[in-house]
Amino acid sequence: MENIILKNIKNYHKLDVYIQHGGYNGLKKALGMPPDSVTEEVKKSNLRGRGGACFPCGLKWSFMPKSNDKPKYLCCNGDESEPGSFKDRQIFEFNPHQFIEGTLIACYAMGIKTAYVYIRGEYYPWQLMLQKAVDDAYAKGLIGKNILGTDFSTDIFLHRGAGAYICGEESALMNSLEGRRGYPRVKPPFPANNGLWGCPTTINNIETLANIPPIIEKGADWFLKIGEPKHPGTLLYGVSGHVNKPGVYELPSGTLLTEIIYDYAGGIPGNKKIKMIIPGGSSMPPFRGDEIEGLKMDQESLKAKGSSIGTAGIIVMDEDTDIVKVLKRIAKFYYHESCGQCTPCREGCGWMLRILDRIDKGLGRTEDIKLLVDVANNIEGNTICAFGDAAAWPVKFTIQKFLPEFESKIIDNIKLPDNNKVHSLREIKEPG
Ligand SMILES: Cc1cc2nc3c(=O)[nH]c(=O)nc-3n(C[C@H](O)[C@H](O)[C@H](O)COP(=O)(O)O)c2cc1C
Ligand code: SF4
Repeated sequence: MENIILKNIKNYHKLDVYIQHGGYNGLKKALGMPPDSVTEEVKKSNLRGRGGACFPCGLKWSFMPKSNDKPKYLCCNGDESEPGSFKDRQIFEFNPHQFIEGTLIACYAMGIKTAYVYIRGEYYPWQLMLQKAVDDAYAKGLIGKNILGTDFSTDIFLHRGAGAYICGEESALMNSLEGRRGYPRVKPPFPANNGLWGCPTTINNIETLANIPPIIEKGADWFLKIGEPKHPGTLLYGVSGHVNKPGVYELPSGTLLTEIIYDYAGGIPGNKKIKMIIPGGSSMPPFRGDEIEGLKMDQESLKAKGSSIGTAGIIVMDEDTDIVKVLKRIAKFYYHESCGQCTPCREGCGWMLRILDRIDKGLGRTEDIKLLVDVANNIEGNTICAFGDAAAWPVKFTIQKFLPEFESKIIDNIKLPDNNKVHSLREIKEPG
């Protein structure tokens, strides 16, 4: 199958090469259609957001009010800070114009005159690459006033993040863009009615937008035939961890996880067994290595197995991995990145980290495992934004899948050689 986004064409990131290969034809076609028909086509294509929540893109666009009494905005989410996710970066580097074209089509469909690209602060070289592509498109009359000689005008601005994962959450992103602290907002109101500066706003992921030009050019029916119909198209699977060839692989949705790991990412170094796999970025519930045979990588298939596609960032861990250490590292990330606005998340992330730390150091107690799950359960669903769930799920589901790994590190269960008597390490380490 031909790739939709990561084309194997030399210098495809350059505007003239992109145009030579039919670039901006989708925009030309869209500009000849009524804006609502563009949204309808995207709706029909069943394109689902690639930013993690899998929300249907066309439906989201249709929530934008039709009236023009307030300015409307598009925020293109390139914050990409979820551990294990590095696919939007590939678009900035290898196909920025397809993303820009998708952004322009989105603006046309929703009557938007200003789009902001919120780009991860640490992506400095990619910020320069994208800015160059935007500048070139401006120079060619593809962005700005009277695009392609029509009365459609739109500006695209880059906004650099400052290294906060939470600013990828759409409402924190808007606060950050407005120059405020990156605190997520309470919803409702939803961004389509009350977004950036209180105006109607749509937030879309970079990969979502990069899918738009081919959908408009070739039609929704073409797109629907790729991959799984309920989650169609290709996905940019980012594979990291214990694989021979880590990288981003564009493949149809529903590709077998084992095929991605063994046929594309080159298998596991030393032919070791897989112990754990996280399928869609650090916040998604993991699988044990013995659970992945026949597992398809699309939202519906993963949901049926208790996980989610997230950002399709696949993290592979081999048989020698210390799962407690991995979870502790993940918990440390969420502890560090919590914005601190709501109590269950702010306090709970700290508690989870401290409990995992003592288990890892051999100072844990039997009741700690139950306590960890209890803290995770009290965060999940009780917070302003989905960060709470993202922090709670790895703890809850990793323990569920790998309980013996945690139990074996609990001091009360450590068996010492003398008559196989079970000692508490506390008795030994803290005499008296
Ligand atoms: C803590 C957190 C971080 C997020 N980070 C990103 C991100 O870096 N990029 C992204 O596209 N979506 C991110 N999201 C999801 C966005 O809130 C939003 O759903 C997404 O940008 C919508 O785009 P889509 O519908 O095209 O997927 C994040 C969500 C949460 C809760
Ligand atoms: S869940 Fe966490 S990150 Fe989200 S608003 Fe609450 S404290 Fe902030």
